[in-house]
Amino acid sequence: MGMEIFELKNKVALVTGSTRGLGEVAAKSLAKAGADIAVCGRNTSDLKRVTDLIRELGRNANGFSLDVTDKQMVVQTVERVLEYFGCIDILVNNAGVNHRVPVLDYPEEEWDRVINTNLKGYFLMAQAVVPQMIEHGYGKVINMSSILGTVGLPNQLAYASSKGGVDQMTKVMAIEWAKQGVRVNAIGPTYFETELVTQIRDDPERFEFINDRTPMGRWGYLPELEGTVIFLASPASDFITGQTLYVDGGWTIW
Ligand SMILES: NC(=O)c1ccc[n+]([C@@H]2O[C@H](COP(=O)([O-])OP(=O)(O)OC[C@H]3O[C@@H](n4cnc5c(N)ncnc54)[C@H](OP(=O)(O)O)[C@@H]3O)[C@@H](O)[C@H]2O)c1
Repeated sequence: MGMEIFELKNKVALVTGSTRGLGEVAAKSLAKAGADIAVCGRNTSDLKRVTDLIRELGRNANGFSLDVTDKQMVVQTVERVLEYFGCIDILVNNAGVNHRVPVLDYPEEEWDRVINTNLKGYFLMAQAVVPQMIEHGYGKVINMSSILGTVGLPNQLAYASSKGGVDQMTKVMAIEWAKQGVRVNAIGPTYFETELVTQIRDDPERFEFINDRTPMGRWGYLPELEGTVIFLASPASDFITGQTLYVDGGWTIW
């Protein structure tokens, strides 16, 4: 067996929240493995920036405005992606937000924003994209979870609840679509430097807590996510479904 089991030539991937951060890393790594990319997010200048970067890698790419909390927009955007590319073989549910305050101070509207983006948004996307995967008898869904899907930390009420939900959602989807060729897995990253965690990166005490808590003694480097995304999107992982694969320097093992 050769390295072609990791190849994504002639595949199309839709990555939500690929305008920056881990979604941008996921989109670029899938493109490096040969996939064409539907870049999705709300920020139009970043949509263009990432689309241009992927075209520079020699792949077909197009930017699509998308708010994953808006069901009508989800359905219309998926239709536009299908019109442009013909199919979607890989869905990366990645768009995510956070709001960090103690439980007793947690505003209801922030709870709704975090849950609607990180949890409901994943379900809406899967519901819109997966039927054509089932029709083709093959597809890969990758849900971006977090170590916070399985561990608790203070000030992470809605975020940890959403990620625990993502892990469970991954199992339910995996079981329902297992015999129809659609594999559903999640990635559970530890802390990686993106806009989402600037507040923590800039707080020396919390930054060090993360280093101390991690067996490997540090945060993740963005390129360290690439192999896992390619693996879960490629035929190399075809007999794996319903799993959360932690990319966490060992955080969740103790
Ligand atoms: N960074 C970490 O340490 C870390 C660790 C574990 C898990 N994660 C997970 O990784 C994913 C990406 O996080 P990140 O660190 O890359 O965050 P980020 O840099 O803040 O990027 C978040 C992305 O989500 C998009 N987004 C947010 N709300 C959206 C909405 N309603 N509709 C569509 N797109 C939306 C943003 O795009 P627009 O603003 O253009 O819409 C952006 O592309 C999240 O699910 C997060 O929970 C991150």
